[in-house]
Amino acid sequence: MTRAKKLRVGIIFGGRSGEHEVSVISARSLINAIDKSKYEVVPLGITKKGVWLSPKQTGQIVNAEAREVATTDAGGKDAVQSLAPALRGVDVAFPVVHGTFGEDGTLQGLLELMDIPYVGAGVLASAICMDKALMKEIFLQDGLPTPAFGVFLRSYWETQPGEVVETVERRFSYPCFVKPANGGSSLGVSRASNSEELRRALDEAALWDRKLLVEEAVNAREIECSVLGNDDPKASVLGEIMPASHFYDYEAKYLSGSSRLVIPAELPEEKTEEIRQLALQAFRAVDCAGMGRVDFLLDRVTLTPYLSEINTIPGFTSISMYPKLWEAGGLSYPELIDRLIILALERYGDKRKSLAIPC
Ligand SMILES: Nc1ncnc2c1ncn2[C@@H]1O[C@H](COP(=O)(O)OP(=O)(O)O)[C@@H](O)[C@H]1O
Ligand SMILES: [Mg+2]
Repeated sequence: MTRAKKLRVGIIFGGRSGEHEVSVISARSLINAIDKSKYEVVPLGITKKGVWLSPKQTGQIVNAEAREVATTDAGGKDAVQSLAPALRGVDVAFPVVHGTFGEDGTLQGLLELMDIPYVGAGVLASAICMDKALMKEIFLQDGLPTPAFGVFLRSYWETQPGEVVETVERRFSYPCFVKPANGGSSLGVSRASNSEELRRALDEAALWDRKLLVEEAVNAREIECSVLGNDDPKASVLGEIMPASHFYDYEAKYLSGSSRLVIPAELPEEKTEEIRQLALQAFRAVDCAGMGRVDFLLDRVTLTPYLSEINTIPGFTSISMYPKLWEAGGLSYPELIDRLIILALERYGDKRKSLAIPC
């Protein structure tokens, strides 16, 4: 009897993003947990300069417990030349590249062009969810609650700082949050309590993106919901983040180690259900697929839930919120990986049913 050929899963990680190191950790967990009796792992690391390493070079990095994808020998190839050979023979791709050039639709576009099925959101949903300004516009269009916000271009901030501060102070009261529209892992996010802090916060956000967001601060509990599925998505139990710092900044997320996750979040049953339904509605509103972690700010006093953001490639280590919430609902980490791969193939098949995509 011949054994069926194993599906070759390309696990893509690292890349040109501020969240490179986090991605390496997510990928290492994923590679350790994936069911190797079903899948052949093809590890594909991308360096901080955007060069794709071969599976062999990448394997050495995964085993060496390195913090970043780096090589002294890029094989003489530039970033573009290294793409096609790396992806050759991959049956399905599993991108765990957080942030820019991974979670923002660019990698998804490449995989579409190469006709490779992939885990997670498509080009459009990835791009929308990477741009907090657009994502929030869509939430509002769909009648979903999200904190009030204003958008300022970096070029405007650089040339007319006085006007920007004046506009913010007219529209919002302190404290407010300032963040890059495109970002993640809280990089470039600050809380401002007066004009001086506002100016510093805008300068900081401007290091990360050309579009700056100022948001009304919510005195909030941070509640998260994992969503899984394509056209008929399901919502997980809820989790709560207890940040170690005064907000859930980069330090609290990855460095201090003392932020806690409470699963399930302690909330009245109807509130839990309301939030889960909002998570599904938000997932559908941006036409997300596969997975998405929907984050809420829950007003401590009124318990009003506000949608904060959807992460289309959430932290994916075995102790990250996204898989933890599924585990609490009875779906183990390896089973979750399995489900995501099946959903990727299902979505690929569904797309190819359309006349717009000639076979
Ligand atoms: N409007 C807000 N009110 C209160 N806290 C906020 C607000 N916006 C952001 N935060 C805090 O900053 C953190 C990071 O902001 P977020 O918008 O989630 O950016 P990122 O995409 O980098 O995770 C949140 O987890 C929360 O702790
Ligand atoms: Mg966040």
